Amino acid sequence: MQEIPELNIITLQETPEERAHDFCPKNFDEYLGQAELKKKLAVYTQAAKMREEALDHLLLFGPPGLGKTTLAQIMAKVMNVHIKICSGPMMERTGDLVAILSSLEPHDILFIDEIHRMPVAVEEVLYSAMEHFRVDVIVGQGAGAKSINLPISPFTLVGATTKVGTISAPLRSRFGITERLDFYNHEELRDIVLQSATFLSVTISPESAELIGSCARGTPRIAKKILRRVRDFAQVTNDNIANTALVIKALEFLGIDHEGLTKVDHMILHHMVTSFNGGPVGLETIASMVGEDKDTIEQVYEPFLMRKGYIEKTPRGRQIHRAKLPFLKQKFLGQNTLL
Ligand SMILES: Nc1ncnc2c1ncn2[C@@H]1O[C@H](COP(=O)(O)OP(=O)(O)OP(=O)(O)O)[C@@H](O)[C@H]1O
Ligand SMILES: [Mg+2]
Repeated sequence: MQEIPELNIITLQETPEERAHDFCPKNFDEYLGQAELKKKLAVYTQAAKMREEALDHLLLFGPPGLGKTTLAQIMAKVMNVHIKICSGPMMERTGDLVAILSSLEPHDILFIDEIHRMPVAVEEVLYSAMEHFRVDVIVGQGAGAKSINLPISPFTLVGATTKVGTISAPLRSRFGITERLDFYNHEELRDIVLQSATFLSVTISPESAELIGSCARGTPRIAKKILRRVRDFAQVTNDNIANTALVIKALEFLGIDHEGLTKVDHMILHHMVTSFNGGPVGLETIASMVGEDKDTIEQVYEPFLMRKGYIEKTPRGRQIHRAKLPFLKQKFLGQNTLL
């Protein structure tokens, strides 16, 4: 089996080691980019703090690795409250959520990642918790079972999701604020790379940092992961100095091209062009052809290929954008379709 080392860079979360020695923005100033969103959240958190109230429930949506969890942690710090972090699929039974809700102190933030993957029964408990700060618990069993309505502390729910379309309407309507995180531009990613490089004691020029930024698919997590690998190269071969030549070498080693496309992206395009003449092809077929799971293709690879104008969604599946097809045919099949 061919090894694909860049998979770690694109799809994985931070490892525990990375998290332990990682720069993490602690306030809105250290959180770079997302200027509009930051401005709004800074006002909302400040106002809630002045009123000594819990912040309105907030739904954050956007692709993985753009900084949703980080933003919630910053908001908790600014408001000087605790934050509990859990994820939707982790809460299997209603009791799990009730236990977490009843442990919250006034104005605390409950952060639920992947909130679209919460079981329906658990989600229903959340409705009255969000609206009235009360939960219903069943005590006892069988005929003697009773439902008790317990109060909980006023809290703020911060829900994060990569798929806003799959959140049920009743849940979505209970969020006072809904905000979207956008992909970062090259300059913002350059600054994030420079910020992390300072923390990691790597010497890197703004040009080299921007080169990393331009290959990072608009995503801070990927920019930081590439920087870590660049740091390894710099440490071993170049006195901890990451110049442009070294960054180019590291990117090549990781299988990332100048547009930020990885081997998996190339495999997707290659299969679509050579086996399906550009499509349309179903998502499942694409996933099985490249050996990735459907969700990863849909959430990680596909949005980027769409942003780059390579593929488009149609009612019958995904297809190569017409404008790119001649170029890709030439590349993969050596065919000159203009003839
Ligand atoms: N605006 C930013 N400035 C600096 N660093 C950032 C910024 N946004 C994210 N990061 C860094 O990028 C990494 C990923 O961020 P985070 O875990 O918050 O993303 P996420 O949106 O919660 O991802 P997921 O959807 O996978 O949970 C973290 O290491 C974080 O410190
Ligand atoms: Mg997260």
